Amino acid sequence: MSVLNTLLCPLDKQPLAQEKRSLVCPVGHSFDLAKSGYVNLLPVQNKRSKDPGDSKEMVSSRIAFLALGHYQPIADSIASYVLNLFSSKQSISVLDAGCGDGYYLKRLDDACTANDHVVDFIGLDISKWAIMAASKGSSSIRWVVGSNAAIPSLSKSFDVVTCLFGFPMFSEFSRVLKSQGILLMVDAAADHLIELRKILYPEIRLYEDGLAVGVDGFSLLDEQNLQFAFTLKSQQEIQSLLSMTPHIHKAPFEGKEALKRVESLELTADVKLRWYVKNTVITEND
Ligand SMILES: C[S@@+](CC[C@H](N)C(=O)[O-])C[C@H]1O[C@@H](n2cnc3c(N)ncnc32)[C@H](O)[C@@H]1O
Repeated sequence: MSVLNTLLCPLDKQPLAQEKRSLVCPVGHSFDLAKSGYVNLLPVQNKRSKDPGDSKEMVSSRIAFLALGHYQPIADSIASYVLNLFSSKQSISVLDAGCGDGYYLKRLDDACTANDHVVDFIGLDISKWAIMAASKGSSSIRWVVGSNAAIPSLSKSFDVVTCLFGFPMFSEFSRVLKSQGILLMVDAAADHLIELRKILYPEIRLYEDGLAVGVDGFSLLDEQNLQFAFTLKSQQEIQSLLSMTPHIHKAPFEGKEALKRVESLELTADVKLRWYVKNTVITEND
């Protein structure tokens, strides 16, 4: 079954079926498909704020920064690992939970398609701005506005769930993964953007590895540390990077002013890719 047919009505958790340009549940709740093909499955009553997730400005900054290609090594590592997991021409279903503008999912889609896999991908983000941007020029992936806290998909729908620099909801990731499904978590490691942080903050906070203790419902398969250097060559590029990170809200005024005086910046990318397999739970019905 295509993952499109696994989408659920966010109001009553009933399966959605496509009728012309809408997805409709048996009770009659209807969700329009936008011109670019995305669907908004985040009803007002499930929103904690009027405009949740990344703002329009943050999304534009992320697009501008990622277009420079500096994070391509992360996308390449993900694609080569996923391609190794599946045998040739096997179908692969992926959910990118908190996909932003879809940079990584689109590259994974390209790599899998180029290797003759049949792909069935969903990009989910709580920010409508992110999903609107992601859906432009990419019709092979289904783009959905929704929350990781209540993923609008049937249980056991995906082979792989990815969550990059995002907001994990492990119980939901486990629910929507098939048995033996794979979870990828990508997070900043100790020296990530350390040069930027040294300009922004008077003191660098001790690095806390939130996932070091393990993840409920999953077993760690593999851990990859990816470190590489890159250079931002203008104030505009530096501001694009700043605006797509939480530092734009967290850093003190003085730090942000100091950064405005920098014209070029050599940076370290330091990220951890952790690959997990969903633990099998044996129930009486199995
Ligand atoms: C730091 S950005 C990372 C985006 C993308 N994964 C990337 O690496 O380019 C975090 C993303 O998570 C989204 N987000 C925040 N809370 C979320 C939630 N509860 N469910 C789904 N997405 C969420 C934000 O809108 C934002 O696009």
